[in-house]
Amino acid sequence: MKKVAVIPGDGIGPEVIGATLEVLKKVAPGQFEFQSVAMGGNAIDKYGEPLPAESLRICQEADATLLGAVGGPKWDNQPPDNRPERGLLGVRKGLKVFANIRPAKIFAPLASACPLRKDIAEKGIDFIIVRELTGGIYFGKHEAFKTPEGERAARDVMEYSEHEIRRIAHVAFKMAMGRRKIVTSIDKANILTVSRLWREIVEEVAKEYPEVTLNHLYVDNASMQLIRVPSEFDVIVTENTFGDILSDEASQIVGSIGMIPSASLGDNNRGLYEPIHGSAPDIAGQDKANPIGTILCGAMMLRWSFGMTEEADRIECAVDEVLKAGLRTGDIFTEGTKLITGSGMKDEIIARL
Ligand code: IPM
Ligand code: MG
Repeated sequence: MKKVAVIPGDGIGPEVIGATLEVLKKVAPGQFEFQSVAMGGNAIDKYGEPLPAESLRICQEADATLLGAVGGPKWDNQPPDNRPERGLLGVRKGLKVFANIRPAKIFAPLASACPLRKDIAEKGIDFIIVRELTGGIYFGKHEAFKTPEGERAARDVMEYSEHEIRRIAHVAFKMAMGRRKIVTSIDKANILTVSRLWREIVEEVAKEYPEVTLNHLYVDNASMQLIRVPSEFDVIVTENTFGDILSDEASQIVGSIGMIPSASLGDNNRGLYEPIHGSAPDIAGQDKANPIGTILCGAMMLRWSFGMTEEADRIECAVDEVLKAGLRTGDIFTEGTKLITGSGMKDEIIARL
């Protein structure tokens, strides 16, 4: 029995997680023990804090953790260190999952949902963003203070140490070895000292992978090249904040943020799996949310944490089939396709397993 901690979260989180659990139960009946865990806004409401110790403990003891999304306007007035997002960062840090893998691949039937020019999209888009997940500004010191003149000021510290850069670089190069053997490291080395260290370490690690071509791009240029020549990217490696921003950009290139899963891994294979989208409070409870990103997280979990390749393939094929059949949730709807609900999408995927 594989123990999976499940964090439904807030907003559309419970909807997309519910859909995913149904898919997992269908594809591998009786193989999982799911334990639901409170984290995010719902945990603040119930326990006064976004990540109760018991929640983190359950995740740490599970074989893998599946997460929907957290946050929403209801908790906007929480003090900064008691926001739902703090819970999310606490889970990432507590599980020590420093490598967040975000695949950006255009599903052929969704080519029309790609906003890029046809000749650009047709060259194929299939890259992976390896985002450092437990360091950088996200985990640096955050401070609001007063200047000696009495003005309000604030600072957030970006800090990386050598081992944090080295281990994420290894993840990227290893991934590249199983792909087209190109790593693009993205930084802001023309301005940031952290980025200069980043570049130095990535170059050292590159020496251990002589078959892989390493390119460096400044993050501003990278955001431009991603829409100009997306087909040229294979594996992108970058620090936490840049990875956050660029993966949202990537999601639009491949159609919708509702389509992209992610796997966060550490030194063992007890991963954390979460779609890259947020809790979308504007559509929560309306059965409009696209569950595909989370369902594909389920497939990633089977593949990477449990070695269940065949079952993972079946889920991915079913998603492909549904898209080929022209069925679409609102976020990927284009003229000539058929609009269905989030639960309708889940049912159609299950029917094709
Ligand atoms: C993501 C999200 C989170 C992040 C938010 C919700 C804190 O945007 O997973 O990309 O910034 O990491
Ligand atoms: Mg993000």
